[in-house]
Amino acid sequence: MGQALTALKLDLAALEHELCRGDLCRTDGELKQRIATMSATIESVFQMSMKICTELRPAVLDHLGLVAAIEWATRDFEARTGIFCNLDLPEGNAPMESRRATAMFRIFQEILTNIIRHAAATEVSIRLACAEAALLLEVSDNGMGLGKNLSAAEAGLGVIGMRERALAVGGLVKFSETIGGGTTVVVQIPNR
Ligand SMILES: Nc1ncnc2c1ncn2[C@@H]1O[C@H](COP(=O)(O)OP(=O)(O)OP(=O)(O)O)[C@@H](O)[C@H]1O
Ligand SMILES: [Mg+2]
Repeated sequence: MGQALTALKLDLAALEHELCRGDLCRTDGELKQRIATMSATIESVFQMSMKICTELRPAVLDHLGLVAAIEWATRDFEARTGIFCNLDLPEGNAPMESRRATAMFRIFQEILTNIIRHAAATEVSIRLACAEAALLLEVSDNGMGLGKNLSAAEAGLGVIGMRERALAVGGLVKFSETIGGGTTVVVQIPNR
């Protein structure tokens, strides 16, 4: 959907360009206004589709559970980015409430997105532990680290979203420097 909408937006911009070259826009202000409205509509559909995608529960989580979903997302991340991932997962699927599993999975996705966007890392270590009392996720990258951005990491919308998701199920998210450089994110969610 995102690709189709982007193509539509580009085509519309090209169309506007052509029309204005032919002086049509100057003589027909209404036409120009319509194009602007169409462009705004495309943008809002784009935002809506992003929101829907984020809110949807990923099917893999429903069918296979959190452990398998984390494994799948990690392998997908590795294949897309070429960043090597060490993965340490518990055996089998510990029972957990779906709200908690979804929160953990969404937070994990945002952590990986941030690594792609900001870390310039070559290696990532992921550890998931599912004890009876709590789920614990630790993701360490060997990238540039938060440095003085540690406070910026408190302010970004992505991080605020992670904290809100964790908080909604009684959990928390912590950021720190990886020993030897890079960023470590720890997510703790009680499992009851
Ligand atoms: N793994 C990381 N390595 C280095 N810097 C990071 C990492 N994760 C987050 N950051 C820093 O923390 C900031 C806040 O992250 P956050 O996810 O809140 O915002 P964002 O990714 O910039 O934007 P968005 O709201 O779209 O997620 C980032 O801008 C970046 O500077
Ligand atoms: Mg982000």
